[in-house]
Amino acid sequence: INIPQFQEDLITWFEKEQRQLPWRENQDPYRVWVSEIMLQQTKVDTVIPYFQNFMEHFPTLTALAEANEQKVLKAWEGLGYYSRARNLQTAVKEVVAQYDAKVPNDPKQLADLKGVGPYTKGAILSIAFDKAEPAVDGNVMRVLSRILRIEEDIAKAKTRKTFESVVRDVISEENPSAFNQGLMELGALVCTPKKPSCLLCPVQEHCVAFSDGVEQSLPIKKKK
Ligand code: ADE
Repeated sequence: INIPQFQEDLITWFEKEQRQLPWRENQDPYRVWVSEIMLQQTKVDTVIPYFQNFMEHFPTLTALAEANEQKVLKAWEGLGYYSRARNLQTAVKEVVAQYDAKVPNDPKQLADLKGVGPYTKGAILSIAFDKAEPAVDGNVMRVLSRILRIEEDIAKAKTRKTFESVVRDVISEENPSAFNQGLMELGALVCTPKKPSCLLCPVQEHCVAFSDGVEQSLPIKKKK
C-alpha cells in the first residue's frame, strides 16, 4: 500500500463528500467531545437533534458544568445510557476546576477525565486539536481490516490496540482530523458492514480485501 496516496485519496474524498453535521461546524473541543460521547452508542440521525438541543441549553463547557443535573438528564432523555451524561458533567466540572475551563490537549490529562476512553480521547485530540492520534471504534476497525486485510478477531479486547498501532503507522500527520473522520465517514457511507459499495470507494485501489475478493468476510468477529 502506497500510504501517501491512500491518505490523499481518503482526505480528498472526505473533504468533498462529508455530510454536513452540526458538530462539524467548527473545531470547538467541547462540541467535539459532546458529539463523540453521544455518537458512541447512538446513530448519527438520532444524535443530530439531541446535539442541537443540547448545545442550545448548554452552549459552553462552563454552562454544562454549572447546569442542574436534572436539566442535563432531561436533555439526554431518549438517548439512553444516562451514565454518559452524568460522567460528561462530572468531567466538565473537573475541566473547569483543574484546567481553567479549557479542554486539555494532553493525552494523559484527557484520559483521566471520567467517561473519556481511548476512542474519545483520540477523537478529541485529532478532530479538535489536529494531533496525529488514533480514534479507533468498530467502524474504523471494519474499514482498516478490509483495506489492510487484517484478520484479527475484533471481538477481542486487545485488538483495538493493534488497530491503534496500525493507525499510528498510516495516519496523515498533515491532516489527522480529516484522515480519522474520513475513516469514520467511509465506514458510514461506503465501507458498510453488509454489501460494501466497493465500486464507489475512493480507496478501492488501495484495498487488499477488495483485490483478494474477501471484503464481505472482514472484519473477523468470533462469537464469545
Ligand atoms: N461516529 C463517531 N464519530 C463520528 C463523527 N465525528 N462523525 C460522524 N460519525 C461519527
